[in-house]
Amino acid sequence: MLAVSCPLPESERQRYLEIATEAALAGGAVLQHYWGKLSEIEEKGRSGDLVTVADRQSEAAVLDVIGRHCPDHAVLAEESGLSGLANNPFLWAIDPLDGTTNYAHQYPFSAVSVALLVEGEPHIGVVYDPFHRELFRAATGLGATRDRQPIRVSSTAELSHSLLVTGFAYDRRETEDNNYAEFCYLTHLTQGVRRGGAAAIDLAYIACGRLDGYWERGLSPWDLAAGVVLVREAGGIVTAYDQSPFQLTSGRILATNGHLHAALSEALLRVKPLGFSFLPEER
Ligand code: IPD
Ligand code: CA
Ligand code: CA
Repeated sequence: MLAVSCPLPESERQRYLEIATEAALAGGAVLQHYWGKLSEIEEKGRSGDLVTVADRQSEAAVLDVIGRHCPDHAVLAEESGLSGLANNPFLWAIDPLDGTTNYAHQYPFSAVSVALLVEGEPHIGVVYDPFHRELFRAATGLGATRDRQPIRVSSTAELSHSLLVTGFAYDRRETEDNNYAEFCYLTHLTQGVRRGGAAAIDLAYIACGRLDGYWERGLSPWDLAAGVVLVREAGGIVTAYDQSPFQLTSGRILATNGHLHAALSEALLRVKPLGFSFLPEER
């Protein structure tokens, strides 16, 4: 596995890490403010894909910080989209509330995810979980931390000893590639498969060794960009399911502690889709 290298000098990586931190903390304060106070929860088009005032206000707070410090940089933010890209090497990828379904149900497992991509590659990543007050940070070459203490991936080397995590995309009712079969098979092979409901936290938990491996499809760059930096800098591996190089825009990720990578990849590739045939007729 080739190490990722960053074109920015260390002082700039440090500076952008501080800006990403300020932005994520600002978003987190908004999430705490609206906790339990949502008067309206909308669907964004696809069934189950929710948006709330907390998503929008958190995004405004994050964008305010980025805009003040880096007015020339491009931004891809979940709720407001892409701006300023024309040949810009700097792109911020922002999920102002990762885990909206959890948040809307007052299940306290959500985060703000802020990443900086340089020439298309994520190099700075901050994930802030305001409900557990945990701040995960990483920058290429500078390591990964939780609450400013260094973190490492786990040392679990066998699937039969592992605890994994995955998720199910909003299109799961429309596609046979819905991850149901993979979930069943890996549940069978391991000590368990969790479904956290916040991809950024799933990746942060791989980085700090609470979980050993993560796979999911149907994701967006803002779900993944910060967490990818965390996992890589904590000593883990991030690829496509078949271990080919990870593509942020593919929506598909396999992230592990490294020791389990080949075994989890092989298991995923062995799975045959379950489709919907197991469901009762009235679906
Ligand atoms: C979702 C979460 C969830 C994942 C979904 C994502 P959102 O993000 O990360 O864990 O399974 O695919 O879309 O909509 O809560 O920001
Ligand atoms: Ca998300
Ligand atoms: Ca979101």
